[in-house]
Amino acid sequence: MAERHRLQRTGKSSVTVKKESALRVEMTVNGQRQAHEVEPRLLLVHYLRETLGLTGTNVGCDTTSCGACTVLLDGESVKSCTVLAVQAEATDVTTIEGLAQNGDLHPIQEAFRQNHGLQCGYCTPGMVMAIASLLKEIPDPTERDIREGLEGNLCRCTGYHNIVRAALAAARSHGSLGEGSGG
Ligand code: FES
Ligand code: FES
Repeated sequence: MAERHRLQRTGKSSVTVKKESALRVEMTVNGQRQAHEVEPRLLLVHYLRETLGLTGTNVGCDTTSCGACTVLLDGESVKSCTVLAVQAEATDVTTIEGLAQNGDLHPIQEAFRQNHGLQCGYCTPGMVMAIASLLKEIPDPTERDIREGLEGNLCRCTGYHNIVRAALAAARSHGSLGEGSGG
């Protein structure tokens, strides 16, 4: 909990500002234990991207509306820009990097590939994680279930049709996506 000080320079003047006390946070990310000292205000998405280097989780807005930052927290999808890193203490986090196993795409990723479920790909990690959570909750969803379940995830390329097709295909090919597969 060391208090730190930092010198910030703005133009020609320099100002000393007090940094918030760091807090220790421990969690499991993609099966690996992680422990770091972080600023209390650090968002989980920035912890994942900047501290752990897991840049598959994207930031697409600053209004908690796009879902590009979606990860699984204890198996449930959350927008990681709405959670502080310290709030993820003792949880099990899965990011898009945690889905593929031994070089094999996760069934949802494979369904995206086969159904052309991505264009620029920016929304894709968040979509895949949201679908992983959705299929865990509803293993045999209707198209309507999927569209409603993905309401919090935006695709700026507007490729929703094929995203929904991919989700349906993933559900059909793997009625249960099973534990340990991130979904
Ligand atoms: S970056 Fe989290 S919802 Fe947009
Ligand atoms: S594929 Fe481009 S944002 Fe969805």
